[in-house]
Amino acid sequence: MKIISNPLELKQYVKNKTRDSLGEQKSIGFVPTMGALHEGHISLIKKAKEQNDIVVVSIFVNPTQFLAGEDLDTYPKKDEADKKICEFSGVDVVFFPRAEDIYSEDEVSLLAPKVRGYVLEGTSRPGHFNGVLTVVMKLLHIVSPTRAYFGKKDAQQLHLIMLMVQQFFMDVEIVPVDTLRESDGLALSSRNVYLSPSQREEALKLSASLHLAHKMLRQNIFDANIITHKMRECLKPLEVEYVVVLNRDFELIEKVEIGNSVILVEAIVGKTRLLDNIWL
Ligand code: PAJ
Repeated sequence: MKIISNPLELKQYVKNKTRDSLGEQKSIGFVPTMGALHEGHISLIKKAKEQNDIVVVSIFVNPTQFLAGEDLDTYPKKDEADKKICEFSGVDVVFFPRAEDIYSEDEVSLLAPKVRGYVLEGTSRPGHFNGVLTVVMKLLHIVSPTRAYFGKKDAQQLHLIMLMVQQFFMDVEIVPVDTLRESDGLALSSRNVYLSPSQREEALKLSASLHLAHKMLRQNIFDANIITHKMRECLKPLEVEYVVVLNRDFELIEKVEIGNSVILVEAIVGKTRLLDNIWL
């Protein structure tokens, strides 16, 4: 496994690797991460390995997607363990840049859409998605992958990245990957390490509320108001940021449409913002 920190070196490496001796094109699967890798990340890597000849993983805690006062300085770092996980998972190249390899002083900027980038997570974290889209755009240009893998857990991030790829006519297939959960339902997240044992218990209310939504759908209750109301009751006493029912274009809908809906929840446990959702 190769570890590269220089973007131009990685670009060259990938270019050389993608043509074999007979000149045949090889596919590249790319998994962007911020490290502190867990099983959720590994499921993205596995899928990338299944579907591509070469797998590249990036590990970069992207400063521009953290707002002032957020956890940039305390974000979990596990560089050595992450490298081992990549090695065991059969990753070909780990891209490990420093902030100065990615950003310079006076940057061209990429802005998230004014509506879809500033609702839901974007309401409490205005500007967060500018940073996400900027770094993903840069990473996709450095790696030039055939396919890039993103978790459905970060549904708004996934949606905006798909929008960016479409609107900028980019030549990459974005592959959504299902959310991996602990056996008790908690969605895996690098930020779960912030939770104390009692907070972790409270955090289960997120997946429990989605479970309840599922149960209501099985009872033929499709009304978004009724579902979100019941979910909010289930989430008590957590500080709920939002509970919404959206279609796949990320628009609010009044009735769940099976095959075209996502139910999203965000709540704060202690000081930790937790996201979860189900795709229906
Ligand atoms: P990070 O939080 O490290 O997540 C990297 C990828 O793993 C994302 O696509 C995320 O949706 C996915 N992921 C996280 N938890 C998951 C789970 N439980 N099951 C399946 N996939 C999961 O998301 C980011 O980093 C950054 O914003 C990034 C896209 C790398 C840009 O900086």
